[in-house]
Formats: sequence, structure tokens, C-alpha cells
Amino acid sequence: MQPILRNFLDKWVYPTGFSGPGVEFRLRQTERCLPLWDKLVSQAIQFAEKDLKSGNAEYKAVRARAGYAAEGPFMSLKQMSTQILSVSIDEQSKYIDLQRMRARQIWDEVKHGQLHADVLLRGGFIKREEELMDDPRANTQPKLSYFGMTAMFPHIHPLARAGQHYYNESMACLGIAATLSVIDDDLIRHQLHSQSAEEMMHFMEGKYQIDAYALTPEDQKPIEEVFDFLLRPWAPEPSRALGGSQ
Ligand SMILES: [Fe+2]
Repeated sequence: MQPILRNFLDKWVYPTGFSGPGVEFRLRQTERCLPLWDKLVSQAIQFAEKDLKSGNAEYKAVRARAGYAAEGPFMSLKQMSTQILSVSIDEQSKYIDLQRMRARQIWDEVKHGQLHADVLLRGGFIKREEELMDDPRANTQPKLSYFGMTAMFPHIHPLARAGQHYYNESMACLGIAATLSVIDDDLIRHQLHSQSAEEMMHFMEGKYQIDAYALTPEDQKPIEEVFDFLLRPWAPEPSRALGGSQ
């Protein structure tokens, strides 16, 4: 197992303040995630090494454009805000802490988009952020997302999002840690360090939702279905911005 993954597991995955069926369910899902998390760290290290060997600065722009497309207002408005809508008015008192964490994530993802724009501006790849509006590379991302179409499925379970938080936001944390272990560029490091604590918070939100709320088979099923979807072969790679190849 990659040491970066071992460290992440020991620090963040296994310690928990809860006990009971939520934790047990999460640990069963964790076993399913482990091989793909491990593969992700190896890939992110490999891609970062390839970027360094390229001998030019274009990889920084490639990463930043991909990050601009995969985070920022696109991500926030399409995904995060619709997560809030999965909690109906009469369920708000039960899930109000989840609503608050999701509201915070809207802000986080917009900030992440801005961090990528900053790399492009400070790196001299663009003069004004508006230029990115004309560049498809800064406006498209090839990753499938269970929640990209959430607005079309208003019946989605309020806890379903926990599966994506747990599986994908962990990959953001791992991809960032792996990339930071290789890339020495100041611009990239500043961007990744600025983003990293928030990705951790998003992962911890998934962990908390499962440990605290996924206590019955009825509440676990919609989360498990998200894991079933995300653990298919198309998923185990982060965005190019976080160390993936695309
Ligand atoms: Fe993000």
C-alpha cells in the first residue's frame, strides 16, 4: 500500500467518535474503496513525475484549466446547491447540520475554481479570467458524476451524497497529497495547499454523515448504491487538476 494512503487511513479514515451500525457500514464500504484509492495515489505520483519531466510549463496550465472546469461555480451550482434541495422542508430539522456543511461547500468549490484561475493569471497563461470563457478546456471535464444531474432527480435520498463525499473527496485529498510529494513548483503548491484542508472537510462530511446518520438498512441502501456506481472502472482517477490523466 502507498504510504500516502496508509497515512490518510490512520489519520482520518479509521479513528471515529461514533460507534454502531453507521461506522460498521462505512468500514465495509471502505474495504471496497481501498484498492482504488491505492491505485489513485500511484497514478497521481506517476502523472506528476511525467509533468515534471516534460521540461516546460504547459502542464501547469493543463492542470489549472481542468481544475477551473471541474470546480468553481460549475461544480457548485450544478452539484452542491442541488444537494441542499435533496432535503425537503420537513426534514430540515433532522438534517440541518448537513445543510450547513453543504452550504459551506458551495463557497469552497467556488474558491477552488478561483485558485485555478490564479495559477493561470500568475503563471502568465492568460491576462484576464474572462479569457477562460472562450476556452473549452476550461469549461469541460470528462469525469462522470453521480450528482451532476441531481436536479433531475429530486427524489434522491438526503444521505446519498455521503457516498460521493466519502469516495471522491478522499481522492481529492489523496491526489493533492500525492502531487505535493512530487511537484516543486510554487504556483501549483500554493494552489494545492490552499485547497487541501477544504477537500479534507468534504471527505469528513461524508464520513460524519455515514457514521452519524446511516444507521438502518433503509438509510444505508441509497449510499451503497452510490458506492456501487462510483466503484466502476471509470471512476478511480481524479480530475487532471488533482493528479489524474484527463
Ligand atoms: Fe474542490
